[in-house]
Parts: sequence; C-alpha cells; structure tokens
Amino acid sequence: MAKKIRKAVFPAAGLGTRFLPATKASPKEMLPLVDKPLIQYAVEESVASGISSVLIITGRDKTAIENHFDISFEMESLLKKKGKDDLLDEVRQISNLARISYTRQKEALGLGHAILQAEDYVGDEPFAALLADDVVDAEIPALRQMIDVYERFDAPVIATMQVEGEAISRFGVIDAEEVEPNVYKINDMVEKPPFAEAPSDLAIIGRYIFTPDIFDAIKETKPGAGGEIQITDAMRILMQKRPFYAVKLQGRRHDAGDKLGFLIATVEYALKRDDLGPEFREYLESLSF
Ligand code: UTP
Repeated sequence: MAKKIRKAVFPAAGLGTRFLPATKASPKEMLPLVDKPLIQYAVEESVASGISSVLIITGRDKTAIENHFDISFEMESLLKKKGKDDLLDEVRQISNLARISYTRQKEALGLGHAILQAEDYVGDEPFAALLADDVVDAEIPALRQMIDVYERFDAPVIATMQVEGEAISRFGVIDAEEVEPNVYKINDMVEKPPFAEAPSDLAIIGRYIFTPDIFDAIKETKPGAGGEIQITDAMRILMQKRPFYAVKLQGRRHDAGDKLGFLIATVEYALKRDDLGPEFREYLESLSF
C-alpha cells in the first residue's frame, strides 16, 4: 500500500522577474488575488486535500510570508476593540490554518535546488510540492485529485493540463500514454518544445507528488539553462528508474506569476465573489473602450 502523504513543500524563493517591479522587495507569493495572497490559496488547497504539515522555502525578502501566517496581536486587538468579529475570525483562522515550518534557499539556483532544501524536513516519506503562482480553481482540490492517483499507483504524480495550439511551447510537455481516464504513464518530458515537436498537448503545471528518491535525482542533476537546477531534469533522471504518472487536472489553472495571467485570475475570482461579483460585472459590462 502507498505510504500516506503527510507533508507539503512550497517553494517560494524565486525572484519573480516576470512581475517586476512589484516583486523587487516583496515576494510574488504575497500578491493578492482579490484580497488573499497566492500562498494562502495554495496552503488552503493543501489543507483541503488532507495535508496540514507544511514547509515553505523562502528566499530574501520573504518575511512578509512568515508574518502573514503568524498571529498579529496588534491587528487582532484593534479588530476586537472595533467589534469587527468577522474580520477577527478571518485573521485568526490564517494563523491556525496549518503547521508551518520555514527554511531558506540561500541562492535562487532553480526549482530543483529549492526542493532539495526540503530533504531534512521530508525525510523518508512521499510529499507534495506546490507552486503558489499556479492557482487551480477546481471543485475537487487539485492536490486531492493527484493524491487519489498516487494512492492507486504508489508512484510519483505530476499535474498537467491540456493546452491547445502553439501555446504548448511555453510549457514542459509530457510524452505519455493514457492508462485510465485522465491518468497517464509518462515516458519522457521536454521543456518548451517547438509546437511541431511537442509530444502531446499536456503541459506540466506546478503541482507534484514526489517520493523521497527525488532528492538523489536532484543531486545527480547538472545545472541547465541559466545555471539553474531544473526539477524537470531531475524527474527525467528518476523516470529511468521508476514509473511516473501524470494526471490531467479537472479545473481552471491560472499562471498568477505572469502579469496577464494574474489579471485574468483576478477578474475571474472577483466575478465569483458574492460580495463583489455583481457590482464588478456591471462595471466591466459598462466599459466601452
Ligand atoms: P518560476 O519559474 O516562476 O521562477 O518559479 P521565479 O524566479 O519565481 O519567477 P520569474 O520566472 O523570474 O518571474 C517557479 C516556482 O519555483 C520557485 C518560485 O518561487 C516559484 O514558486 N523557485 C524558483 C524557487 O523557490 N527557487 C528558485 O531558485 C527558483
């Protein structure tokens, strides 16, 4: 039987160059979709999927993330004094959401290198890794969909989504065979292939379930583009040694680490809100330029 997944790792030490200048001194993971930072959506997804032991891998300028998940005495006493009980509950809930540990990636040497910083925390267990800038709006939480596949196949699982046409060239793409509806056994993967050479229309997105042997594979991985240790390269090494699966996620994924993706996600999340949606929709419909 597959070992239970109890831990989730959140790499949040990237430089966020695609979102400058907002990310010059504050982490991309703290950008809010409507009123909640990206990292909170991701931690909530993990908790909703049954995992509440969390490691956030931070870099420079990431204290805002730690403060966000901590108790804010000043804010709580102010809200209490003003009788704003709903907001007080909401603020308190954030610090009770999960058991969160932190570690630093001292240099942004790539996602593979970031995940390697989780080795001591994870130990000899399978674990999940979530990239908070990939937001997945789904009825069944994205990570839960993946855990279900992991438990059936007892093997690492990565998340994919279908991408039509030329846009596939912006992603890592899997070469795989479908073994049951929406579940694929991966043969290989390529990073950003030209459209004509893409082995499928299934793009890799930022959710992974790894077994602890990924750490040895990362250590074997040579730095690739930009001197970074890429997780895709480490997965390709491990794939020679053990089966690897992918799931086609049911839901809508947004790349909130990209300016346009972030704007689209903001509009969609705002329109879904009971308190803001109707008025915001009216405003959008009234725009005439
Ligand atoms: P991205 O590929 O989005 O890179 O990282 P980035 O540096 O954050 O952003 P851009 O592309 O320069 O705008 C994917 C995920 O991996 C983490 C990021 O924080 C993000 O969650 N990451 C990346 C690290 O933790 N460390 C790294 O060295 C690189």
